[in-house]
Amino acid sequence: MRRLLIAGNWKMNCGPYDAAELLEGLKARKAEVDEQVDVLVCPPFVSIGMAVKYLYDTDIQVGAQNLHFEENGAYTGEISGSMLAESGCNYVIIGHSERRQYFGETDDSVNKRTQKALEHKLAPIICVGESLKQRKAGDHYDLVKDQVSAALEGISEEQVLDVVIAYEPIWAIGTGETASPEQAQEMHEHIRKILADLYNQEAADSINILYGGSMKPANAQELLSQPDVDGGLIGGASLDADSFSEIITIAE
Ligand code: G3P
Repeated sequence: MRRLLIAGNWKMNCGPYDAAELLEGLKARKAEVDEQVDVLVCPPFVSIGMAVKYLYDTDIQVGAQNLHFEENGAYTGEISGSMLAESGCNYVIIGHSERRQYFGETDDSVNKRTQKALEHKLAPIICVGESLKQRKAGDHYDLVKDQVSAALEGISEEQVLDVVIAYEPIWAIGTGETASPEQAQEMHEHIRKILADLYNQEAADSINILYGGSMKPANAQELLSQPDVDGGLIGGASLDADSFSEIITIAE
C-alpha cells in the first residue's frame, strides 16, 4: 500500500520572514498528520534551515527545489546534495518544467541530478509533463515516456524504490486549469506501466506518482481518489496554511 505524499513547492516565494509566518500557520493547523500520509514542504534554499528548525517537532518533512549534479567546487551560486542533506532535507524536486523552460534543464541533467540526490539519500521528486501543444498533437504519452526513461537511466531496481515521480502537465501549472481526474489517472497509469516495463511490477506499484498542476482544496478529493494518484505536488495552494492544511486533511 503506497503512502500518500502531499508536497508543497514554494517556488521563489517565502524568504525567512514569510517562511516563519507560513510555517507557524502550518504547525498550528497540521503539526501531526495521519500515519498513512507524508507531508513535505520545499522552501527556497534560504529558508530551508529555518523550516527544518521550525518543523523538527512535527511530522512535516523538508525538501529542496533543485541540487547541482557535481559534489562541490567552482560552481558559483549552486547548491550540492551534501549541503542539502546536511541541512536536514529528505527530498529534492528535480526537473521542474520551470527549470526546463527557464534554466536549460535537460533529460540528461535531470538524470545526473537524480543520481546525485540518491547518492546523498535525498528522495528525488522527478517532474515530467507535457505542454498544451504536445497534448493537442497527441504526443503527451511518448513525451512522458521519454522523460521518465531518460531520468531513470542507470538507476537500479533498489534505488528506484526511493524515487518519486510528479506528473505536472505544463498547461495546468499556475493556470487554475487543472487536469481532470480522468486525464490525471490516464497519465499516472501510463507512468506506472513505464515503471513496470523499466523495472518490475512490484517496484512500479511501490513508487509514488504525484499530480501537480493547480491542485486546490476544491479539486483535491477527486484527484487523490484516483487509483494511481499517490499525492500532490502543490504550488500556489501550499503558500496558504489553510489551503495546504485542507488538502492534507483531504488526503488523510
Ligand atoms: O511543482 C508544483 C507546481 O508546479 C504546481 O503549481 O501553483 O499549479 O499548484 P500550482
